[in-house]
Amino acid sequence: MKYLKILIIILFITNTSCDYENPNQIAESEISNRVDEILNLMTLEEKVGQMTQIDQRFLDTIADLSTYHIGSLLSGGGSHPEINEPQAWLDMYNKYQNEALKSRLQIPLVYGIDAVHGHNNVYGATIFPHNIGLGATNNPDIVFKVSEITSKEVAATGIDWTFSPCLSSPEDYRWGRTYEGFSSDPALVANLGSAAVSGYQSVENMNGKKVIACAKHFVGDGNTEFGTGMNGLVDRGNTILTIEELKEKLLPKYQEAIDADVQTIMASYNSWNGVKCHGSKELLTDILKDEMGFQGFVISDWEGIDQVSGDYKSDIDVAINAGIDMVMVSGESQPYKKFIRLLKENVEEGLIPMSRIDDAVSRILKVKIRNGLMDNPLVSNENLNLIGSTEHRAVGRQAVRESVVVLKNENIFPLSKDLETLVVAGKGADNLGMQCGGWSIDWQGGQGEITIGTTILDGIKKTVSESTEIIYSEDGSDIVPNSDNIAVVVIGEDPYTEWFGDKENLDLSEDDINLISDLKENGFKVAILLISGRPLNVADHIDQWDAFAAIWLPGTEGDGVSDILFGDFSSTGRLSFPWPINTEEGSNADKDNLLFEIGYGL
Ligand code: GLC
Repeated sequence: MKYLKILIIILFITNTSCDYENPNQIAESEISNRVDEILNLMTLEEKVGQMTQIDQRFLDTIADLSTYHIGSLLSGGGSHPEINEPQAWLDMYNKYQNEALKSRLQIPLVYGIDAVHGHNNVYGATIFPHNIGLGATNNPDIVFKVSEITSKEVAATGIDWTFSPCLSSPEDYRWGRTYEGFSSDPALVANLGSAAVSGYQSVENMNGKKVIACAKHFVGDGNTEFGTGMNGLVDRGNTILTIEELKEKLLPKYQEAIDADVQTIMASYNSWNGVKCHGSKELLTDILKDEMGFQGFVISDWEGIDQVSGDYKSDIDVAINAGIDMVMVSGESQPYKKFIRLLKENVEEGLIPMSRIDDAVSRILKVKIRNGLMDNPLVSNENLNLIGSTEHRAVGRQAVRESVVVLKNENIFPLSKDLETLVVAGKGADNLGMQCGGWSIDWQGGQGEITIGTTILDGIKKTVSESTEIIYSEDGSDIVPNSDNIAVVVIGEDPYTEWFGDKENLDLSEDDINLISDLKENGFKVAILLISGRPLNVADHIDQWDAFAAIWLPGTEGDGVSDILFGDFSSTGRLSFPWPINTEEGSNADKDNLLFEIGYGL
């Protein structure tokens, strides 16, 4: 009897001790065991295939997915199915996934996309303010909500992974990617970036697989020296910082993303002290994986390994040994079969040790298992109705409201809803493409009705009373003075993405300046709304303006702007970048040379 009692006690202890352990820990040990089992079955070809990511446009044949055991596909900017609508995206995803599952070990693809301000490649999806606008909200809750909704719309199309959030803390506004940063202040970026990671990764679609986030671009993408970038400008240039400065300034925001359990990190095109990030073992392995404890996998940027050193074979050797785990080969400039062949050769010739390959593949498999993809690769169309839904757009409208920064107001705002006449002018007033900016439907965005949404003008029309006559004129021609003589003028930048937006000079366009002058000469009071991806040179003109608000790149829900214009909501937006008199001086401009300080807003 005594021994029976001892046995029962032992069974009880061993059993309960399991319950006390953190369920995730059990999950992690199970995941590791499962990964080891799969890894031991894999051939070198299968391991190399797992490390290969191709843009779906450049597949020679869909059968290559199983033939070459491809681990990942992406849709780069504008890489749509034949018809750009949600069902077609889902069908495309399932078509590729079914092919990948024909491979010997049936390891599913992980499919990535730049859903950086909503599921922005997909027609009809909710498109939110770009990060510069979300930075102006200074509100991690709305950033979480926006990211969560983005993931719901991404997951509805089956896609597993968004290359977001961008954790840039841009200093030089001449950089075309300034708007992808929440702020020039790394601390604000850390706060909002970790909220975005949590928001993106909080969503399970109806099949129990989660959406994976990607903190990018590691590291120093927004801190390059002017003149060292592409075409002698900024993008992909050289960031000069001591290791101490790097650790103090640029690593904490990545540490917060890692602590928020970000599953992937993308290497940056720029160099650090003359060394390409994609080829820096110090950055990608010693610092990111060993010191900072990053357990997920490192993805390269688009063809990001191609400029690391010498010929393509040595690019691969240097980048993989540096700590890149998956290569966004793309397949556009270099054939993916060439990448696969050269990676295999590097291993067979001992240039890349099998231990490095096994580490990379283990990291990739862990992410696929941890997020449910391994067990739930295919997706039904139950959630397609979520895409661009009324409730999602309502959150978009709230984010727009909170991103508007009022910088001048000579008793103009709030506008009356009962004016007899209201003039609305400017190229941004009725232009959905302009208010969405880059990364919208197509890589470089577009003009006009690029998707479903509400323009600034639509929002104004929905808000004013029946009796108000709205006079709209894009270029302000044939506008005559009227009893109210108030004009809302929406000016700013045409869409751009990446180096297409690099500019030496940040002046307003002549057309915008002349339009406003003409209205002033006709006795109008002017309320200026600036659509832009960065602070622009307004100092020489602002005295002529009666009211001025920065609305950044608000996305599809333009009625959030009229919520502020007519006072239905008070403006809470605050600058997340300092605004110099000469904005080419960027965030490090001398305090005496600032028009508005960071944190300013009426
Ligand atoms: C681009 C960008 C990166 C994006 C990737 C895939 O070049 O640098 O932010 O995620 O390619 O589109």
